[in-house]
Amino acid sequence: RPRVFSGIQPTSGSFQLGNYLGALRNWIALQDTHDAFYCVVDLHSITIPKEPEELRENTRNAAAQLLALGIDPERSTLFVQSHVPEHTRLSWVLECLTGYGEAARMTQFKDKAARQEDEHVSVGLFTYPALMAADILLYGTDLVPVGEDQRQHLELSRNLAQRFNSRFGRTFVVPEAHIPTDTARIFDLQDPTAKMSKSLPSGVVEFMDDPKRAAKKIRSAVTDNERDIRYDPENKPGVSNLLVIYSGMTGRSVSELEAAYEGSGYGDLKKDLGAVLSDFLTPFQSRVRQYLDDPAELDKVLRRGAERARAVAAETVRTAYDRVGFLPPV
Ligand code: TYM
Repeated sequence: RPRVFSGIQPTSGSFQLGNYLGALRNWIALQDTHDAFYCVVDLHSITIPKEPEELRENTRNAAAQLLALGIDPERSTLFVQSHVPEHTRLSWVLECLTGYGEAARMTQFKDKAARQEDEHVSVGLFTYPALMAADILLYGTDLVPVGEDQRQHLELSRNLAQRFNSRFGRTFVVPEAHIPTDTARIFDLQDPTAKMSKSLPSGVVEFMDDPKRAAKKIRSAVTDNERDIRYDPENKPGVSNLLVIYSGMTGRSVSELEAAYEGSGYGDLKKDLGAVLSDFLTPFQSRVRQYLDDPAELDKVLRRGAERARAVAAETVRTAYDRVGFLPPV
């Protein structure tokens, strides 16, 4: 079976709708056809300062949410990045193959750096994409399900794989990005020209929000002064974003929704979409609570995941270190 790898940061206590429609939905689907490795990337998370206690709690929350969404630990390897030390061991080698200018061109680095005070822009934030490449290349990954905002990082991962292979001999699989065609980029409900993101939280549907609050966020989403419900991202970004979200959550196509809501007002669309979301979130949150209420079971899943991941990762690092010319450990 071809291999899939992807990661998510435990940034806050909750995933948001963009994570789900851009990436996690595909994580779940790909378990049926692929050998999947899914990782809570806590090492990436500290590139922006985090409180230790919060980080611990958010990492557990992230694992519980992945299980509640349907990541099946019998079929997929679910683990925490810091439990597998090979990630940082490979990342160093990849950092040494990454150009300074190449890393400086990463738009996510530029965006995140612009939001921090100068002295808080860490070297870790800068080298972040090399660690991400290590995550992927360690597992001989064929396919990486992510949202549009990760496309440039994926391109760098491919370049690093090719660069290593041509310099030291064929070692890494060159991974492909798997980005949805319809829901690759979900926008903020209050500013539908900005990406929905945990670091800009105005119009974000958090999956651990009270379902009533989530529905309310949809009802107060910014739209426009017209009346017609039509997909036109250029002129009607707010309504178009709601249609894409609705379509993603129900499997009904955008054109089917346009037809169904012909003659209705924005209020009807928002009310129905709010109900769709709250019907999704209520059972999801009770599953999350079940996983959080049984920390021993959660630990067991993560321990087994880390063991399985480590078996693969250790072999890759052994080969890569040897190719680079490091003496075998004596
Ligand atoms: P992160 O934690 O920011 O987001 C997790 C996933 O959610 C997607 N996403 C979105 N998709 C559509 N619309 C949005 N508004 C939206 N917001 C987030 C992201 O594209 C991502 O797929 N660097 C990664 C984590 C990572 C990783 C990896 C991913 C580390 N190592 C290796 C893949 C492979 C990140 O910060 O994602």
